[in-house]
Amino acid sequence: MASLFQSIGQRTLFSLEPERAHGLSIMALRSGIVPACATPGDPALRINVAGLDFPNPLGMAAGYDKNAEVPDALLKLGFGFAEVGTLTPLRQSGNPKPRIFRLVQDRAVINRLGFNNEGHEAAFRRLSERSGKRGIIGVNIGANKDSPDRIADYVAGIRRFAGVASYFAVNISSPNTPGLRDLQTRDSLKELLGRVLAERDRQQGSKRPVFLKIAPDLPEASLDDIAAELALHPLDGLVVSNTTLSRSGLINQLEQRETGGLSGAPLFERSTIVLAKMRQRVGADLPIIGVGGIDSAETALAKIRAGADLVQLYTGMIYKGPGIAAEIVKGLSKQMKREAVANISGLRDLDTADWAARPLLA
Ligand code: FNR
Repeated sequence: MASLFQSIGQRTLFSLEPERAHGLSIMALRSGIVPACATPGDPALRINVAGLDFPNPLGMAAGYDKNAEVPDALLKLGFGFAEVGTLTPLRQSGNPKPRIFRLVQDRAVINRLGFNNEGHEAAFRRLSERSGKRGIIGVNIGANKDSPDRIADYVAGIRRFAGVASYFAVNISSPNTPGLRDLQTRDSLKELLGRVLAERDRQQGSKRPVFLKIAPDLPEASLDDIAAELALHPLDGLVVSNTTLSRSGLINQLEQRETGGLSGAPLFERSTIVLAKMRQRVGADLPIIGVGGIDSAETALAKIRAGADLVQLYTGMIYKGPGIAAEIVKGLSKQMKREAVANISGLRDLDTADWAARPLLA
C-alpha cells in the first residue's frame, strides 16, 4: 500500500515543474500523508562516526530540506540521518526561476538555486522545537551572497546552531554562489577552518563534529592542499561531494546547456574517484560522507567500499521517490547477510585503491 501510494505520488510530482514538485513534496512530508517506511533496525548497519551513533549509514543530503521543515519526517522514511540547509545568516531568495532542471534520460538534475533559504532564525526556531527528539540532524551552513565577510557567516552558523545540530557541514563547494568555491584554496581554507573550529570549541556543552563539504571538480594538487591543511586542524570529517560543473557524457542535449551544478547518476563515478583519492590522502581515521549519484544499495555500497563511512543522496529520491531510503537500507542489510559481514564498517576501503588509481574526470 505504501509503495502504491508512493508511486502514484511520484508520477504526479514528476509531471510538475521541478521546483513546484519539490515544494509539494515538502508539504506532503510536513502534513504526514507520506506513509512512514518501517526499516528494520539492523544491528549490522549501526555505525559510530565522529562520536555519533547512526542507526544506518544512509542520510538525506543537504539541499532537500533547506529550511529544516521536515527532518523528522525524513528519518521516518528510513534515512539514518538528515542534513538540513544550506542555511545562511540572512534570508535570501536565490537566483531567478526556473533554476532546477531534470535531465530525465541521464537520471540527473542541474540546479542553480543559489542558497535560497529563510535564514538562520527561522530554521533555528524549528530545530529548537524538535529539541529533545531522537535522531541525527546535521546542519549545513553557508554564506550570504553579499556578505562582506563570508567566513564570519560560517562562524555565525556554528554559534546559532551549536545547541541544536548533531553535526555541522561547512559548505564551501556550491557552484551557485560566485567565488564560494575559492574558499577551498589553501590560504582561505586555513583561515576558514581556524575561525570555524575556534568558534565550535568556544561553545558550551558537547562539541559538535564539523565536516567540510568539497567539490568534485578539484585537480589532484588541490586535493593535496586540502589534505595538508586538514592535517593542521581538528576537523571531524569530509563530505565528498557537492554537484559538478562538468557536462561530460550526458545524453540530454537541451537541458545540459543550463548553468548550475549537476547531480545524480552522471556524478557517481567522478565523486567516487575524488572520495577514494581523499581517503588515501587523509588516512583511515578521518570520517568521510560519500555523496553523488547514489540511487541503489549497490551504489551506496560502492561508495563505502571506496572509502565512505556514511553516504547521502538527493537526486535518487527525485527519480525513485521517498521509498528509496527504505529500499536501500533493506538492500544493505541483505548484502551484509550475503557477505557474512558483521558490520557495514567492515566493507569500508575494500576498493579504495582501485577507485583512487583512476584519473580524475574532465
Ligand atoms: C543540492 N545540493 C546542495 N548541497 C549543499 O551542500 N547545500 C545545498 O543547499 C544544496 N542544494 C541542492 C539543491 C538541489 C536541487 C540539488 C539536486 C542538490 C547538493 C547535494 O547535497 C549533493 O551533494 C549532490 O546533489 C550530489 O548528490 P546526489 O544528488 O547525486 O545524490
